[in-house]
Amino acid sequence: MDEGVRAALYRRAMKFSRLTERIAGEGARAWAVHFEAMRRRRAGEDIIVLSVGDPDFDTPPAIVAAAKTSLDRGRTHYTEIVGDLALRTAIARRRQAHTGQRTGPENVVVAAGAQCALFATALCLLDFGDELIVPEPMYLTYEAVAGASGATICPRASQAPRRVQAEGRGRRHGREPAYTRGADQQPA
Ligand SMILES: Cc1ncc(COP(=O)(O)O)c(C=O)c1O
Repeated sequence: MDEGVRAALYRRAMKFSRLTERIAGEGARAWAVHFEAMRRRRAGEDIIVLSVGDPDFDTPPAIVAAAKTSLDRGRTHYTEIVGDLALRTAIARRRQAHTGQRTGPENVVVAAGAQCALFATALCLLDFGDELIVPEPMYLTYEAVAGASGATICPRASQAPRRVQAEGRGRRHGREPAYTRGADQQPA
């Protein structure tokens, strides 16, 4: 059976949660563009992929070697949920040196990528009906990660200052709109 037909039948037969509907927006369609581009590249077409931001370089050898050494030493078990203490300490030290803001390991949570971190943050801070101000142009998954919590994205022109004052019309439910970074601020 054709793969597309099989997928369509599966979608009709399965009852998916409302959460999946909230995370399936424009951003999700961009992934379809990405995978179509990759498929066509594998098929031999000369494709320049300008879709979701997957780095066009391999992981630096020193990082690959450190990961292998770590596995060889048996570091394959659960860490603290917020991340390994030594790693959080190193991240905190670097951030403090970089920004001048006092940062300790207790201020750091390690996540598997920016989307994962934003998803967790959105679920911890936002509720249904909340609004999240995001400078535009924004990364394509931001709508979905915020939408998962039930909050709504409020895009603002990218010239917006980094710290945005809550505006009267952005207020609902007695809470001020939250703020996140935009596409001009790459994940660390
Ligand atoms: C601005 C921005 N936010 C988020 C992401 C996603 O980051 P990650 O792959 O770490 O989830 C990217 C990836 O390119 C990005 O450019």
